Amino acid sequence: MGTYNIAVVKGDGIGPEIVSSAIKVLEVVAQKYGHTFIFTEYLAGGCAIDACGVPLPEETVAGCKASDSVLLGAVGGPKWDSVPNHLRPEKALLGLRAALGLYTNLRPAKIYPALMEACTLRPDIVEKGFDLVIVRELTGGIYFGERGRRDGKYGPEAFDTEAYSEMEVERIARVAFETARKRRKNVVSIDKANVLETSRLWREVVERVAAEYPDVELAHMYVDNAAMQLVREPSRFDVAVTSNMFGDILSDEASQITGSIGLLPSASLGDSKCGMYEPIHGSAPDIAGTGKANPMATILSTAMMLRYSFDLAEEADCIENAVNQVLEDGYRTADIVGNSDVTPLTCDEMTEKIIGRL
Ligand code: IPM
Ligand code: MG
Repeated sequence: MGTYNIAVVKGDGIGPEIVSSAIKVLEVVAQKYGHTFIFTEYLAGGCAIDACGVPLPEETVAGCKASDSVLLGAVGGPKWDSVPNHLRPEKALLGLRAALGLYTNLRPAKIYPALMEACTLRPDIVEKGFDLVIVRELTGGIYFGERGRRDGKYGPEAFDTEAYSEMEVERIARVAFETARKRRKNVVSIDKANVLETSRLWREVVERVAAEYPDVELAHMYVDNAAMQLVREPSRFDVAVTSNMFGDILSDEASQITGSIGLLPSASLGDSKCGMYEPIHGSAPDIAGTGKANPMATILSTAMMLRYSFDLAEEADCIENAVNQVLEDGYRTADIVGNSDVTPLTCDEMTEKIIGRL
């Protein structure tokens, strides 16, 4: 029985709704297993711009750093699309990842048998099932490289730069191999080594690390091919390790083949136990306040928090089983009704169903 301090960053759009759902679930888990979760709210993203003039207030960074883990909803929305670049809500997310040293992003994607009909892939592909995890590098690459505007050969131009150090590749490769060891012992490293120098370094370093893991099988794949293989034969992937931007793109693709982006959780981890847990989807401003949001990705993110930051595997299983159970029972939110005539539940109703099965 433990006491855990959780920094809560609800953010914008559907962020507050889905995070409130996740907190309700955590509170029931706390009661059931005798833990104490202390939630402290901090502002980040568009709501922080409105309240304090900056997307990531100092207080938020300090509070998150001092916590045992961070639960985040989503940030951003059209309201802040025209703010100057350095004030964009997304800066909050990138700033938090960097400030907390969260260089690993785990994004698991698997097909739920109950949701096979919501999947956009052909039935013969879906039937084989898939269960993969994307290990995305999160604090390097083009997201954090030098960028700007300048006078170019054809007049004004813009540039962004991708840079990776051996150290950055090595540590994320190690995470991928360690993750694979606990799974089906297969790593696919995804790059664009036929064009990019950073990818050639990536490949060299991954090969070097692979030598320490003779029990894990390693293959390399170009990112364009990987994008194709993900929809052609997703069952061939166990652990896919890739750079920040490739991981961003491929994880959205991986979410879609599970049926809905509303289902995918993520864990952002560094060298300490304090991680940040958030759904991979965005703030969905178009459905904010309508009750249409699917809380499952955020609720599943709390399961990852319990597992990775607090070492509470049984409690994590309990949440994952509850989500699985409501899906088996046929309950759906609007994003996963597919062609069925099931009446979709609201975010709150779905949360209650999940709580009922904890
Ligand atoms: C994600 C999001 C973010 C990213 C955006 C909001 C900055 O797309 O977490 O996948 O690109 O990392
Ligand atoms: Mg993304």
